Amino acid sequence: MDSEKYRERIKSVLITQKNISDGLVKVGKYIDENYSGKPLIIVGILKGSFVFLADLAKNVTIPCEFGFMAAQSYYGGTESTGEVRITLDLQQDISKYHVIIAEDIIDTGRTLKAVADILRARNPLSLEIIALLNKSERRIADIEADYTMFSIPDKFVVGYGLDYGEYYRNLPYIAEIESE
Ligand code: IMP
Ligand code: MG
Repeated sequence: MDSEKYRERIKSVLITQKNISDGLVKVGKYIDENYSGKPLIIVGILKGSFVFLADLAKNVTIPCEFGFMAAQSYYGGTESTGEVRITLDLQQDISKYHVIIAEDIIDTGRTLKAVADILRARNPLSLEIIALLNKSERRIADIEADYTMFSIPDKFVVGYGLDYGEYYRNLPYIAEIESE
């Protein structure tokens, strides 16, 4: 895709870099206050949460570990197939940790529900979900985040880790995109 077309498809910026960085300061404080003195692992769900997790990490000041899981529910387009595959698992034994799942976006909730169920079955000391974005209108699975940074309408968004056909993850803001 050429650079001009890449830009042209971005319809409008929904969440600015400033919105995101202000939100991250609050989440960082929330984690610092609630997990101080506790063994904590923050788990990012790849690929979508890699930018979010990196910036979140810089706003958390207490000692903690990081881990990654990869789950696939989208296969290129804008619709979920409903099938969730775990393609990368954690290395740590989480029975000795408080766990925070950091997810980029909760759409139908199927991905997160699958990951949360798997992790909960491993008996962590506690399990919480922090979501960058929430599209509550689209929810199918019975799951909610404990902390949501931004609620958004039922629009397909890209940037800040989120992709359309693997592109646009590198935008520093979150934008609505022309999907056709
Ligand atoms: P769910 O299983 O339907 O909740 O889908 C969650 C996953 O779908 C997210 O982790 C994203 O990777 C992807 N996804 C859902 N909505 C969007 C969107 O608006 N833009 C980009 N990716 C999305
Ligand atoms: Mg994702």
